[in-house]
Amino acid sequence: MAVATFRDGKWGRYEMRPVAPIEVHPAAHVLHYSSTCFEGLKAYKWADGRVNVFRMDRHIERLRQSARSLVLPEPDPQQLAQMIRDTIDKARPVVPDAPGALYMRPLLFGTTPNIGAAATPASEAQLIVLASPVWDYFAGGMKPLRIYVESVNSRTATQTGRVKTGGNYAAALGPTLEAKKRYSADQVLFCPGGEVQETGAANFLLIRKGQLLTRSLDATFLHGVTRDSLLTLARSEGYEVDERVFDVNEMLQWVVDGEAALSGTAAVLAGVGTLIHQYREHQVGTGEVGPLTRALRQKLVAIQSGESPDQHGWLTRV
Ligand SMILES: Cc1ncc(COP(=O)(O)O)c(C=O)c1O
Repeated sequence: MAVATFRDGKWGRYEMRPVAPIEVHPAAHVLHYSSTCFEGLKAYKWADGRVNVFRMDRHIERLRQSARSLVLPEPDPQQLAQMIRDTIDKARPVVPDAPGALYMRPLLFGTTPNIGAAATPASEAQLIVLASPVWDYFAGGMKPLRIYVESVNSRTATQTGRVKTGGNYAAALGPTLEAKKRYSADQVLFCPGGEVQETGAANFLLIRKGQLLTRSLDATFLHGVTRDSLLTLARSEGYEVDERVFDVNEMLQWVVDGEAALSGTAAVLAGVGTLIHQYREHQVGTGEVGPLTRALRQKLVAIQSGESPDQHGWLTRV
């Protein structure tokens, strides 16, 4: 792992270390006031043996945005890029062949030891880059997802929806486990006040021939890099891409004959087969992963794995 420390107003040089437990003071800011954020991005091994990171600049920028929102020291983009490259370099022997990948996890947290600092930002912080091989998410076939529609509660506080911070995931965990237990749901789609937003760990897209609908960007949800990439590809395929606020009723109308899918780094694009809303199950299209979802996913996977040209400059060779 690559480790850098922020102290005396600046980032020090990072070092490469074997992955091992780290020492954190029990009064560390992060343990009390949750001053932490992270990123998740993937590096893909191509047939020529080289490794290519998908949209590294976007992920670095999003971590910096998260840091600003939480008043944590912002990582230096050049240093973080180099930390990611060096971590990939060390992990090179364990990068699986596509469709597997090396999952990269940059993590930033406040370490200042002071338990009286609820209203004081952390002046010391650590930035760590971890890496882990991941294999094909859909090795067992593309199973259509069952999604529970939560039309009252939010995933996060309104102003931290676009921040990739641990507390948001902790908050979504209870409702997600509850929906799993009660409805055998895979995920919860949060629709506070009836407005469709996103799930606990992915963005939400509605797709039909020549049309794609997803919520417009605002502070309430995470601005997915995969979402942005899929929207770009859909536009170049001639789709009319509609980014706006829409409600649960419109979504339920759409899925009578349309498709629905979750987008994110982990699964790229995963088809939804069933929406569970107010004790009723709504089948999405045929109930299987739709052909448009499969085709759009394949377009993006082909770029990530080097089968199709990278026309948008999304990949960084390492
Ligand atoms: C809450 C949430 N929304 C959306 C996404 C999708 O973002 P991305 O496509 O950048 O992975 C993620 C995954 O990182 C997430 O955790």
